[in-house]
Amino acid sequence: MDFETIILELKNQGLYNDIKTIESPQGAYLTIRGEKKLNLCSNNYLGLASHPRLVRAAREAIEKYGVGTGSVRALSGTHALHIELEERLAKFKGADPLRQSFSEARAALVLQGGYVANLAAIQTLLGKEDVVISDELNHASIIDAIRLAQVGNKFIYKHNDMADLRVKLEEAAAVRKTPRADGQERVVLIVTDGVFSMDGDLAPLPEIVALAKEYGCMTMVDDAHGEGVLGEHGRGITHHFGISGEVDIEVGTLSKAFGVMGGFITGKKPLIEFYRQKARQFLFSNGLSIPDTAALIESVKILEESDELVKRLWERVRFLKEGLLKIGFDCGASKSPITPLMIGEEVLARDFSGRLYEEGVYATAIKFPMVAKGRARIRLMPSAIHEEHDLEFALSVCEKVGKELKVLS
Ligand SMILES: Cc1ncc(COP(=O)(O)O)c(C=O)c1O
Repeated sequence: MDFETIILELKNQGLYNDIKTIESPQGAYLTIRGEKKLNLCSNNYLGLASHPRLVRAAREAIEKYGVGTGSVRALSGTHALHIELEERLAKFKGADPLRQSFSEARAALVLQGGYVANLAAIQTLLGKEDVVISDELNHASIIDAIRLAQVGNKFIYKHNDMADLRVKLEEAAAVRKTPRADGQERVVLIVTDGVFSMDGDLAPLPEIVALAKEYGCMTMVDDAHGEGVLGEHGRGITHHFGISGEVDIEVGTLSKAFGVMGGFITGKKPLIEFYRQKARQFLFSNGLSIPDTAALIESVKILEESDELVKRLWERVRFLKEGLLKIGFDCGASKSPITPLMIGEEVLARDFSGRLYEEGVYATAIKFPMVAKGRARIRLMPSAIHEEHDLEFALSVCEKVGKELKVLS
């Protein structure tokens, strides 16, 4: 393979990823090659990535327990901190172990990332003879998980289109009539992102749950961009819609609003225990390190204690979006902090991002393969740590560059 030609072609097509190196902590501003840039491209929604309480918790845990866990979690690598984090996450997501029976109580399993959690959630549950029904714009990790599980019966429904989901459920019902070779009923799973990461729109989760009930199938939501962001105290998309506990499998990431790294699955206790016993990603790969886990316990505590950061995030989101719309930008269908500036052509999006950068604003161009060709955009990610004057600066730079590159008339 001629790798150099491949790289050159990527550059010519505007698809080359110019990965920048950050020299400062994650914050409202980043230092890159010695220069300070307004940070509008991190998923550090609440500013927890460098929060002093998380830093202190990580430092204290290292002093007490060291750094590594020594083994996969299924052998000697499950530390008491992992269990504390899982219990706190389950409670945060609505578990009430004192009032619920084992089969009804909810639990959590922490894995090494949101990507890995999606792989584990799907690969462990589904096999060749099962059925998956997936939104066409689902995250790459869901697509990869379905491939990895080699699911034999795969239906892709049009993005957020409930009429099309019903059509696919009918087709799936026909497949379901025959049992698996082992005599068991086929598992039918509807899977969707909660917040779609490139457009910022939300899945119509209550309607999906209602359809799943009607057709008797399971549901899964990847709430990577909803955890810590949607619902009171950032408890996620099911709380936002008032359907907590009604989605069978909820996947979250710990690398965005929670500020560190890792992923988790929540669901009823028997399901989570099934994953703990069977998921290859859990059994054959080490878990989170000691400082990561200790810092994450602190993140959950901060969110449990107060709604303040989540509220501040949403104030900033409203401020930025209203400003962009007033200037005349097309922000697509976003209903979350993810704020796209729709550009279209890849090279134009790259140039737009480049000019923003020269003017002091770091906001990445999102292009193929992250979105379809010709649907390139700039993705702005406001955070609770931005002040209004930071966003005013961003608005003035976006307007200047938009006019210069004729994205705005
Ligand atoms: C929707 C969605 N799911 C999963 C992931 C993966 O999460 P992580 O970075 O924790 O692996 C991401 C991160 O980009 C995401 O946007």
